[in-house]
Amino acid sequence: MKTQAAVLYEAGRPFEIEELEVVAPEGNEVLVRYDYSGLCHSDLHMVKGHLPFRAPMVFGHEAAGEILEVGNKVSRLKPGDHFVASFFPVCGVCRWCVTGNSRLCDMGANGLEGFLPGGKFPFRGAKGEEIGAMMSIGTFSQYATIHENSVIKIDDDLPLDKAALVGCGVPTGWGSAVNEANVRPGDTVVVYGIGGLGINAIQGAVYAGAKNLIAVDPVEFKRDSAKKFGATHTAATAEEAQKIVSEVTNGTGAESAIITINELTSKSVSDATEAIWKGGTVVVVSMGEYGANTVELSGVHLALWSKRIHGALYGGCNPMHDIPKLLGLYKSGHLKLDELITSTYSLEQVNQGYEDLEAGKNLRGIIVHQH
Ligand SMILES: NC(=O)c1ccc[n+]([C@@H]2O[C@H](COP(=O)([O-])OP(=O)(O)OC[C@H]3O[C@@H](n4cnc5c(N)ncnc54)[C@H](O)[C@@H]3O)[C@@H](O)[C@H]2O)c1
Ligand SMILES: [Zn+2]
Ligand SMILES: [Zn+2]
Repeated sequence: MKTQAAVLYEAGRPFEIEELEVVAPEGNEVLVRYDYSGLCHSDLHMVKGHLPFRAPMVFGHEAAGEILEVGNKVSRLKPGDHFVASFFPVCGVCRWCVTGNSRLCDMGANGLEGFLPGGKFPFRGAKGEEIGAMMSIGTFSQYATIHENSVIKIDDDLPLDKAALVGCGVPTGWGSAVNEANVRPGDTVVVYGIGGLGINAIQGAVYAGAKNLIAVDPVEFKRDSAKKFGATHTAATAEEAQKIVSEVTNGTGAESAIITINELTSKSVSDATEAIWKGGTVVVVSMGEYGANTVELSGVHLALWSKRIHGALYGGCNPMHDIPKLLGLYKSGHLKLDELITSTYSLEQVNQGYEDLEAGKNLRGIIVHQH
């Protein structure tokens, strides 16, 4: 089957829209149609060379759509099922899956090399060359062959554009507050960076009962959006946020600080560590340059005040459980998804979408695939 897809040939170049061949599904694989794909900042870290990847690769890792065909070993899914793609597959039997940490599943090890669990590259170029899929899903494509363990079946009545965002930005942000910062009723929480992830960290912290919720972002539109999602205070800089934290906590500090800025820096980790109180937690969510040392702190300071710096992947979520759970919260009115989609783009406009992301115009931009 043919597909139009956004391919990256090397870091530093724009995405190129090309017609590719989708390799037919076998065994535990499924052929899917992607209807919507969100524009997450992580793709940009590869475009910028911050994170290594094997080129050429079809990018995108946040999407929803429909199953078209299933391989002969697939029993859990059938053509016509609606699904959200998980950017980590869940095998269900590895050490991580069976201990409630399925986002760390061993099957996800090759996501940046772009082949499917089992070793197959899912796309072919015009000359027959093997082309990978980011996180083994490659959602900037109309169609793809992916492993069934990357597929989260969802209810048919859910709108697929909203559901797409629950592939990455929503669980990662929401879970960073609820699972990883473990926000408790009455807490003071600081969220640095109000993009597709940070706005959902705000939603998670509100739902978990934060009393003081300080949203930090240099962009006014982001600060205004945070207020609409329930932030009690906003600040343009970490220094401004520190003043607010001191005022609202009588100088003791916040219980937790969550870093969801576009690119992790040493300063952002130090600022967040200053903002928390004794026994508090800093949750590091942001990506950045893979090899750079971005945690530069006094270890004695950490020991004396018993502070925790905690790295967090996928918001501590178990995708098979948490993605349907979050969609259930959307249905019951406890989670906002409609308000997250700021702009829509065609696949051909993917580079424009990322320019808008960098310019601070979007909470989340989303590609609407044409078929
Ligand atoms: N850990 C994970 O599982 C995971 C998953 C997905 C994305 N990420 C990473 O999370 C980060 C955020 O992703 P996103 O899609 O929300 O990005 P985004 O571009 O939508 O949002 C980033 C926000 O940070 C703001 N910002 C920039 N500098 C700032 C500063 N000094 N202080 C406060 N705010 C600042 C920007 O204005 C923007 O609003 C990226 O690094 C991304 O790669 C991590
Ligand atoms: Zn993402
Ligand atoms: Zn596993």
